[in-house]
Amino acid sequence: MTDDKRDPIENWNEVLLIYRSALKEINTKLEILNDEFQHVHRYNPIEHIKSRIKTSESIVKKLKRKGYESTIENMVEYVDDIAGIRIICSFTSDIYQIAEMLANQNDIKILSVKDYIKNPKESGYKSYHMIVTIPIFLSDRRVDAKVEIQIRTVAMDFWASLEHKIHYKFEGNAPEHIKEELVECAHMVSDLDARMLSLNEEIRAIAGDKVDSWKF
Ligand code: GTP
Ligand code: MG
Repeated sequence: MTDDKRDPIENWNEVLLIYRSALKEINTKLEILNDEFQHVHRYNPIEHIKSRIKTSESIVKKLKRKGYESTIENMVEYVDDIAGIRIICSFTSDIYQIAEMLANQNDIKILSVKDYIKNPKESGYKSYHMIVTIPIFLSDRRVDAKVEIQIRTVAMDFWASLEHKIHYKFEGNAPEHIKEELVECAHMVSDLDARMLSLNEEIRAIAGDKVDSWKF
């Protein structure tokens, strides 16, 4: 991805530029899909999108955890979430639709998928993850940049952000009763998502075309 002979800072800045460009590309794709969805179905599947570039401290920490030396090559090779996008949807069905719409774009290559909705983590965590590459066209070459895409509902996101804070607070060793409570809450989130989805389907079936959108 980079030319070793140059100054490492210059190299790193170029890597960052590529990842930032990758986030822009995916964000634009998502905006287009959302607009088209609104046009065809009078409904926006995406509530909001957050994107971020991982800090160099976190990248170094992750490499260390995985047992790799902190070189730019190792960062690009072994850290899949230097560029990350989180897509928050209203309903579980939206998640799979968005994932499929992205997968169908032939410039996007899917490297891996982890469906923590069908197979939640032990913590109770639910989300749909994809690691993809997207081509970035520079003045003289094309580079394929990796992006981690996390897709989840508003309710799953609410749970994940609270659990993340608790995880941090206890440095990964939260008391057992708190962990159990979190798993319990994760079940409630799943139940809420399922009920909201069926409620929405019922409303749409009754209201048909009269319902433009449930958003302001
Ligand atoms: P890393 O854990 O990132 O090294 O990679 P991995 O291959 O294990 O990926 P995984 O899909 O498990 O996790 C990727 C990201 O998902 C994490 O960086 C978090 O943002 C999120 N995530 C995974 N598990 C949990 C969890 O139990 N709770 C919360 N809040 N977030 C999680
Ligand atoms: Mg992990």
